[in-house]
Amino acid sequence: MGSELIYRGHDAQPAPDTYSPKPDKPLLWLSRPIRYMLREQRLLCVLVGIVITTVFFSILPSKPGTAALGGSGSGYSFDPVPYSSLNRLEEYQHRAAYHHPMLSSGAGKVPLGLKRKGLRIVVTGGAGFVGSHLVDRLMQRGDSVIVVDNFFTGRKENVMHHFGNPRFELIRHDVVEPLLLEVDQIYHLACPASPVHYKFNPVKTIKTNVVGTLNMLGLAKRVGARFLLTSTSEVYGDPLQHPQVETYWGNVNPIGVRSCYDEGKRTAETLTMDYHRGAGVEVRIARIFNTYGPRMGIDDGRVVSNFVTQALRKEPMTVYGDGKQTRSFQYVSDLVEGLMRLMEGEHVGPFNLGNPGEFTMLELAEVVKETIDPNAKIDFRPNTEDDPHKRKPDITRAKELLGWEPKVSLRKGLPLMVKDFRQRVFGDQKESSTTTSSSS
Ligand SMILES: NC(=O)c1ccc[n+]([C@@H]2O[C@H](COP(=O)([O-])OP(=O)(O)OC[C@H]3O[C@@H](n4cnc5c(N)ncnc54)[C@H](O)[C@@H]3O)[C@@H](O)[C@H]2O)c1
Repeated sequence: MGSELIYRGHDAQPAPDTYSPKPDKPLLWLSRPIRYMLREQRLLCVLVGIVITTVFFSILPSKPGTAALGGSGSGYSFDPVPYSSLNRLEEYQHRAAYHHPMLSSGAGKVPLGLKRKGLRIVVTGGAGFVGSHLVDRLMQRGDSVIVVDNFFTGRKENVMHHFGNPRFELIRHDVVEPLLLEVDQIYHLACPASPVHYKFNPVKTIKTNVVGTLNMLGLAKRVGARFLLTSTSEVYGDPLQHPQVETYWGNVNPIGVRSCYDEGKRTAETLTMDYHRGAGVEVRIARIFNTYGPRMGIDDGRVVSNFVTQALRKEPMTVYGDGKQTRSFQYVSDLVEGLMRLMEGEHVGPFNLGNPGEFTMLELAEVVKETIDPNAKIDFRPNTEDDPHKRKPDITRAKELLGWEPKVSLRKGLPLMVKDFRQRVFGDQKESSTTTSSSS
């Protein structure tokens, strides 16, 4: 019996003369996705993707260090590496290097029509004397600056010329209260600096130095910003070593009337170093010596501003003690240059920033007389408590590691300050009459 189980294939056998092409396996394998792409318009998507990727990589800046491959040495507008993939320190260095040509070892290209993007910087105490000059320089450099100030000694007038600039913001805020801002650098200056002001409310002064500094260090830690503390030569107290080097630990009275400032700044330095060692915050410490210049408080009790105001008002210049105590006087533009070099450099510090030229109070009075009024008189008064006898910075460290030293002498800087003071003491009208009478 012819069973199907025995033979089934006879029906499927091709007739001997019919054409039967061999199946082309690879083409079959390719044709399916192509047919699919054409049918679903996927080809279009792929082409659009290729175009976007090409455009993206053609405007992407090359990494720092690739200048030889065609970089121009300028700054950048966006970063190729997502910050989330970097730790805080790397993130800062990365951002700084990309945004600051002076910080990057190499370069990249600036996309056509796009300018270099600056850093976002907070300046606490930025409406004060030193702070406002620092803000001017940072704005000039192209950074975005946020001034945080409670206007205790600062004045809006000092920063008013930046109002309306989209890169500038002013926040009325007391640093004793916490604050959250997304920034790359924090210059922490907020603190009354003249004895008249810091003795006015000593508890508030030490709170500003301790709690205020803690808050700003906390902010630096949280957002991965680099933090610079403006400390003071007062941390050396009434120094037993002369001139003062950074390794000198000082001779400070912990319970005197100046202690709220001196000890406050010493504690601020301690906190700064503890955040650096303990939390990896990038920090910088500047120990500033006597600084003078335009925008100083007219009646702030600091010796240069006192002498200048008194001489302008035809009052006798007040000298405390015998006038033989010495100070060094640094012009404000020199200080600002030092602060910026410190912030951008690789060294934590502390660094003395001051002019090593040493003057007695009587010598200073002579220079003021020469500049303003040769007939000005001197009024001697008993010395104030804890007034240091000698103060002169050793700036070897700053010279070597920051390549910095002051450029402006007292005889060059004082007239610039006097011009500003004359305007503020007399107002424009009287100034023109004084100028006329002095030139006649
Ligand atoms: N100018 C100097 O000769 C000198 C010397 C040594 C150290 N320093 C330091 O430099 C910094 C600036 O000094 P300056 O001469 O410009 O003094 P300044 O008094 O002109 O400026 C201090 C600024 O801080 C602000 N401020 C004070 N307490 C604040 C608070 N709690 N919250 C917010 N803002 C506050 C003030 O309103 C002011 O604008 C200070 O930290 C000071 O200790 C200055």
